[in-house]
Amino acid sequence: MAHTNVNIRLERQSDHDTVERVTFAAFESFEAPGMPKRDIPNEHFLVSLLRGDPEFVPELDFVAELDGEIVGNIMYSKCGVVRPDGTITDALTFGPVSVLPKYQRQGIGIQLIRHSLERALALGYKAVIITGHTTYYPRFGFVPADTFGLTTQDGSTFDAFMALELEPGYLGSAGGKWKCCAAFDVCENDKTAFMEYHRQYVLKQTEY
Ligand SMILES: CC(C)(COP(=O)(O)OP(=O)(O)OC[C@H]1O[C@@H](n2cnc3c(N)ncnc32)[C@H](O)[C@@H]1OP(=O)(O)O)[C@@H](O)C(=O)NCCC(=O)NCCS
Repeated sequence: MAHTNVNIRLERQSDHDTVERVTFAAFESFEAPGMPKRDIPNEHFLVSLLRGDPEFVPELDFVAELDGEIVGNIMYSKCGVVRPDGTITDALTFGPVSVLPKYQRQGIGIQLIRHSLERALALGYKAVIITGHTTYYPRFGFVPADTFGLTTQDGSTFDAFMALELEPGYLGSAGGKWKCCAAFDVCENDKTAFMEYHRQYVLKQTEY
């Protein structure tokens, strides 16, 4: 069933805890062929890190509400493509994108992504580079990042690594390495900070 009464609006400070809960719940249900499932998802930690990252784009931090309840969220941050000649081409990435499990596959993610991509275009951004579900994102126009000669920092490319030109031709064919903001590195690599964040997160849940 597709919901027609989804309200998409910018996230407010008062939504922060709820959005982290929605993110945790969504990624507890995460399954994607070929992608590892973590014992404890860390995307709620990423959400909290992104909000404090200089590359975070608050104008593209949307929640989806259904009857006043926040059921989904999408966040964007600035990223870059480091070209072989050392120049950097600016782009955006999004993620996490989350919908509460009981509302998944009801069209909410599609509405969040379409709305935010339209806003990104209106704000003058020219390309979006992501990793994600290979059967989900092509519907928005994402193609393998390899199409533009892009690789990750370690020089690899894979099906889940995708890009979308909001301005046709913007990414060109010179190729380059995708570089995301620091929040992603911290989220993946600072296990101590993650465990402390998650401990606090769990404590907060007992207050609800
Ligand atoms: C992925 C996610 C954001 C999609 O949002 P959603 O509201 O469930 O999806 P929608 O209802 O808008 O989209 C429905 C379509 O997407 C497909 N789809 C939904 N989740 C999918 C997934 N995990 N993998 C592949 N396709 C998916 C459905 O099969 C359906 O396809 P169809 O139109 O061809 O029938 C949501 O399911 C979610 O939060 N999942 C857990 C966290 C996650 O995986 N985040 C994205 C990481 S890349």
